Amino acid sequence: MSRRKKIYEGKAKILYEGPEPGTLVQYFKDDATAFNAQKKATLDGKGVLNNRISEYVMLRLSEIGIPTHFLKRINMREQLIKKVEIIPLEVICRNTAAGTMSKRLGIEEGEKLPRTIVEFCLKRDDLGDPLIAEEHIHAFGWATHAELDEMIAMTLRINDYLQGMFAGIGINLIDFKIEFGRLPDLNGGHEVILADEISPDSCRLWDRDTNKKLDKDRFRRDLGDVTEAYTEVATRLGILQLNQPKGKPNLSVVTNEE
Ligand code: TYD
Repeated sequence: MSRRKKIYEGKAKILYEGPEPGTLVQYFKDDATAFNAQKKATLDGKGVLNNRISEYVMLRLSEIGIPTHFLKRINMREQLIKKVEIIPLEVICRNTAAGTMSKRLGIEEGEKLPRTIVEFCLKRDDLGDPLIAEEHIHAFGWATHAELDEMIAMTLRINDYLQGMFAGIGINLIDFKIEFGRLPDLNGGHEVILADEISPDSCRLWDRDTNKKLDKDRFRRDLGDVTEAYTEVATRLGILQLNQPKGKPNLSVVTNEE
């Protein structure tokens, strides 16, 4: 691993040069950060769980025709992905009020929104990823009108699919954040594809019956049992084998292992 060229290191992932041009290796760390990295911790096994969960979600989404950067999982913590130019936006999709939307607009957490709402934040850690309007995106050229239309359309399809997928395992999809990238095509143009990850780090997932949080809010809000909650999501998705000793998932015993 140390011989590979590191391209980028983020808060929860590292990107290395891939084995072929146009590819990268995405490594999932156990590190967790919140509140613009003011709060930090290492959570044993989180990277392994997010690698598996994100693989699963990306594969399901490509089955319904969403283009994604995912190529294959390499091992417990790494996946091969297509190299893209990341569009500097965090696209947030909300079905139920929570987090910053509740705070900003005074809507109680858990209140179902009248309709799905898509928001944009600028990817700028130094500014705390500020909320922006479509007007800013156009005026500053962060994405074209066509790219934005595609991103919104894909986000709503992803939301529809994931709401159903999670409902099937007794989980309410409250909100999620996704990122997109530009993949060059053969004609000198590019295609907008889903990039980054989709995992309990980037979604709010509440148990349908108890409203128990099964996502990163367990870390943000010091609720404890963070990896246990991620393990619960993976187990319900059928990624991890059942009947592991409680709180101690045997992460090496998994399905679909090459
Ligand atoms: P939001 O409520 O805006 O922020 P916070 O997580 O700080 O309360 O988050 C909405 C959803 O998007 C939530 O599931 C977390 C996810 N998200 C990220 O994964 N990364 C981010 O940088 C932001 C702003 C949100």
